[in-house]
This record gives sequence, structure tokens and C-alpha cells, in this order.
Amino acid sequence: MAMYEHDVLVIGGGGAGLRAAVAAHEAGADVAIVSKVHPVRSHTGAAEGGVNAALHEDDPWEDHAYDTMKGSDFLADAPAVDIFAREIREEVIQLEHWGMPFSRDDDGTVSQRPFGGLSFPRTAYAGAETGHHMLHAMYQQVVKRGIDIYEEWYVTRLAVTDHDEVADRQCHGFAAFDIATGEVAGFRARDGVVLATGGAGQVFKHTTNAIANTGDGAAMAYRAGVPLEDMEMIQFHPTTLPSTGVLITEGVRGEGGRLFNSDGERFMFERGYAVEDGELASRDVVSRAELTEVAEGRGVDDDHVYLDMRHLGEERIMDRLENIVHLAQDFEGVDPLEEPMPVKPGAHYTMGGIEINEWGETVIDGLYAAGECGCVSMHGANRLGGNSLAELLVFGARAGRAAAGEDVGTPEIQVGPDPDAEREDPDWPIEPGEISGGPPDVTPNDALVDPVPVINSAVEAETERIDSLLVTEDGVSQAAIRSRVQDAMGEHLNVFREKSGIETALKEIGAAKRELPNLHVTDTSRTFNTELQHALETRNLIDLAEAIAFGALAREESRGAHWRKAHQERKDEEWRKHTMLSWNDGDPEMWYRPNILESEIQEYDPTERSY
Ligand code: FUM
Repeated sequence: MAMYEHDVLVIGGGGAGLRAAVAAHEAGADVAIVSKVHPVRSHTGAAEGGVNAALHEDDPWEDHAYDTMKGSDFLADAPAVDIFAREIREEVIQLEHWGMPFSRDDDGTVSQRPFGGLSFPRTAYAGAETGHHMLHAMYQQVVKRGIDIYEEWYVTRLAVTDHDEVADRQCHGFAAFDIATGEVAGFRARDGVVLATGGAGQVFKHTTNAIANTGDGAAMAYRAGVPLEDMEMIQFHPTTLPSTGVLITEGVRGEGGRLFNSDGERFMFERGYAVEDGELASRDVVSRAELTEVAEGRGVDDDHVYLDMRHLGEERIMDRLENIVHLAQDFEGVDPLEEPMPVKPGAHYTMGGIEINEWGETVIDGLYAAGECGCVSMHGANRLGGNSLAELLVFGARAGRAAAGEDVGTPEIQVGPDPDAEREDPDWPIEPGEISGGPPDVTPNDALVDPVPVINSAVEAETERIDSLLVTEDGVSQAAIRSRVQDAMGEHLNVFREKSGIETALKEIGAAKRELPNLHVTDTSRTFNTELQHALETRNLIDLAEAIAFGALAREESRGAHWRKAHQERKDEEWRKHTMLSWNDGDPEMWYRPNILESEIQEYDPTERSY
């Protein structure tokens, strides 16, 4: 069986993965990227509006940190927020030196526009295609350094030792599936594996996320024993096209675009949702406002509201937002130079994820994470627009350096099981975790010390799983199972949530899980078999949907993106803590970790949030 070997293996070729790879390479490691899609087709390329950094002399980084903490509804962890706001400035300057074609002011400086929840125009951008240009600029750095890329290889199982205590486990590599040939091979990381697999937006049908965003890294890490943190915190972006979920950047509102209801009211101001910042309130606030307008009969077609940018004029629109004109024309049949665009909230970003510290370390030795799949946590209950491209630069670089063996000292943020933690004994409406008859998640290997047999046993398990999927005679399609989960999530785990709905969704997720052993693929080819790939992804979607719903059921308060009908206030006394979900070898356990409002530099006061 084939085995590929490098010092550092980065799973995922989007922004976080590319940044981690460059950093690890600069730290002297032999690095390779293993990615399900070609790097420049990664979802980072869909990011439109920009990247936040306090670059201006009148904009201290502490203000960026405060806006981030306030945006998080005071659930973020202060050490992560401070590191982020400080280090992103150098990262953006470096990106510019790498050739990133930022939009410019007349004096040649990098343009920065207002964005939601920011107290200063701090969002640097390249038209409305910032992520696309960033991805290409970073990909060039990877190519220039001769970093190996295994593209269209889908990593399906981590090779982790099976010590009883998660904190004793070690990650040696993984098994991956070559989408072009169907070959399953082993990958050995001599120093570290960095998960940079992006978000899990595909657990929802109406999403801005690419089809590839199935939360693979988070699901694999979870099943290997790494806790998932704050999974209930899903961001719904307020301006997506109703028929496809395609993103209409917040940059439209940053440039002055206005939201209207069917009565022609600029409801963010006129209905009192955000009397100071209006359309530029944070995303959770704007999404709730839009759906309240629809629920109260002031929506358009009982479904959406309008976003109007015509008053900006064609010259400015084509200079800064041209991409939006094409997206609205191509995906909604609307010309935004002539008429307002219909928009509604869509699942956009997974704030929670793999529990990591400020160096991307997980509790498992040799396993790191960065970008949207990780939760450091700097977004808490709500991420600010423009902080995602920024996060992946800062924490991608840190994870790459740590994985390459750089001495990171004693991190401020703790990871891993805490014997003294507050634990939950939840009344879950379904049997959580492992489905009976499913494959074990940490391949039994008697805590082998030699990495090669650990990797080989992961490869054998995956070969068996794929072979058996290809010979099933009959059963349920991955599309049917996915739809069942996505419909339940869209109905009950959307912007507005209530206990009975979350329980209904969990029962649907449980039913989908029980259908998994009957998964059937009709295409039995091993060459570019996308049906097989989607079938392999389905289990990840189900496990993460379940984690999101468990977190949402547990958190009996409203904070940031998470809103509960019977608990409409933020409850700081009880809920200034992260929900943590541990797989516990197939029998999940929920526990809590207090969030941190104090860093080495400052302490944040969790005031009431208004915009
Ligand atoms: O609206 C946007 O352009 C999205 C930006 C982000 O999510 O950071």
C-alpha cells in the first residue's frame, strides 16, 4: 500500500491551509498540502468583501480587538482576540508584498471600507473578489517554494493512536482517497498534521458555502477525540440571493447600500433594530431584523427583503462592486444597476469547531487546526465580516509554525478534557454519537508506538468502507440522506430556534443516521466518482449537524447568532461559557469551559451590545 511521507501535512488548500504551509516551510519543514479540491477552487475564493486590519494611524489595534469581542457578544476568548488584532496588521502588509492586488485610494494606499460592527473603516479589499485574489496570491507563494500539493485527494480518516485518554493520543497521519483513481493511500506526518478543511455550511441547504464544505476536518477530529466547541454558533449572512444562497457581499452595505422592506421602509433604522449603525449592525442583528420583517408581513413574497445600491451610481459600483452586478444578473436574473436585489439570510460561517489554542494545537499530540474548521475562539457567538480572511492568516501562520516544531512556550488558552469542568447530563431526544454497526473511529491498534501500522490500519479501514459502498445492491442515496438533514436544519436550526424544533431536528438527524448503513451508490466507477465522494462526506455532515443541534439545545439563552424563543436574553451569569462536545469513543458527552475575558494586555467588560 502506498505511503507518502513529509514533516508536515496540511489538509486543505484554502487560505488557512496555504498560509500554514508557507509558515511551516519557512520554519524549515518538508511540507505537503493534501486537498479535496485544487487549491484555487477552495471556498476562500468565494469571500468577497475584504480582510480587516487596523492599518491606519488613527485606528489602534485595540479598537479592532474590542469590536471583535463586542461582535462575539463577549463569548470570544481575550488572548485569541488580542493576538489576532495585533498580528493581522503585519499579515496584511505581507500579503500586499506578495502581490495581492488590493484596491487603492488615489494616493496609492490600500483602500479600506466600513463593514458591519466595525468602529472604523478597517476592511481592506480587492473589488468584491478579495478571497479570490488572496487565494491566488498565496497559492503563488506555495508554488514558488516548491511545496508539494496532492490535489483532489480526499482525506477520510485520521491515523491516531487509541490510548484510552485522549490527551495521550498521537496523530501520525491519515488515510486519503485519490478522487482521480479511487486509490486509498497512507500519508505519514513526521511532525504534524494541520487540519484546514473549512466550514460545514453544507449541513444547511440555503448556504453561501461551496459544495465541498462538509466539515470533514472537524468531524474527523471529533471522532478521534478532540472536543468540538460552540457548535451551535452558526452565522447567517443577511444578504444572500434567495434562489441559490449566493453571497451578496456586506461590502454593498459598507459602500452605502440600503435595506428596504415591502413598505419601502429602511427598516434597520425606521423599525429601531439598529438606530445608530442601521445596515452596518453586526450580521446576527441584521439577519434577525430581516426575518422579523418577513414574519410580520413586511417581507417581499413572504420570503425576503430588498437591498438597493442604485444610488451609489454605476461608476462607483463598477469600480468597487462589479462582481456583485454579475452575480445578481447570473444567479437571480436581476440587474442591480436598475433595480434592488432580493436578499435573505443564509448559512455562512461555522463560528464553533475543533477546540484549539492560540498555536492551533489540539489536545491530540501532532494534530493542529486553523481557519474555519477550528475554534480558537476569536469569533465567539458572532463573527464580524472581514474577520474570517484575517483569522486564517494569523492562525494559519501560527499553526504552520507550531506543526513544524517551533517552540510555542506555554499557551494562555487551555485545550483538552478538564476533570473539574461543569458537565451536562442532557435529556437528548435521540441516542447520540456512534451508530450501531458503524466503523470504529479511532482504529484499534493497541496504542501502537510505531506510526506505520497506525496509518496502515486507517488505510485498511477506509479501503474496506469504500469497497463495501461500491458493492451495495440497493439502499438509500446520499442525496436523500443529506436532504433530510439539511431540511431539518434549515427549518429548526436557522436564525430563530426553539426547544421543540431543535428536538424535532435531532429526531430527523437520528433517523438519517440510522439510514447510513444502507447508503447506496449507483455509480461504481473508481474514477472521479463524485457520488462516492458525497457518500463518504455524508457521515461528517450528520455528526456535525448533531453537534450543532446538541449545542443549540443546551444553550438556554440568546447570544450572538444563537437565539432561543423561550430565552431571549443573554444570561451572563450562567452562560458565559463555551459548550464543549466530546465524542467519548462514540458516546458523546457535553461539558463547559468558561470563556476568557482577560488577556495579558487587557480585560473586557461584557456590556450590553447595541448598534
Ligand atoms: O459579505 C462578505 O463579503 C463576507 C465577508 C466575510 O464573511 O468575512
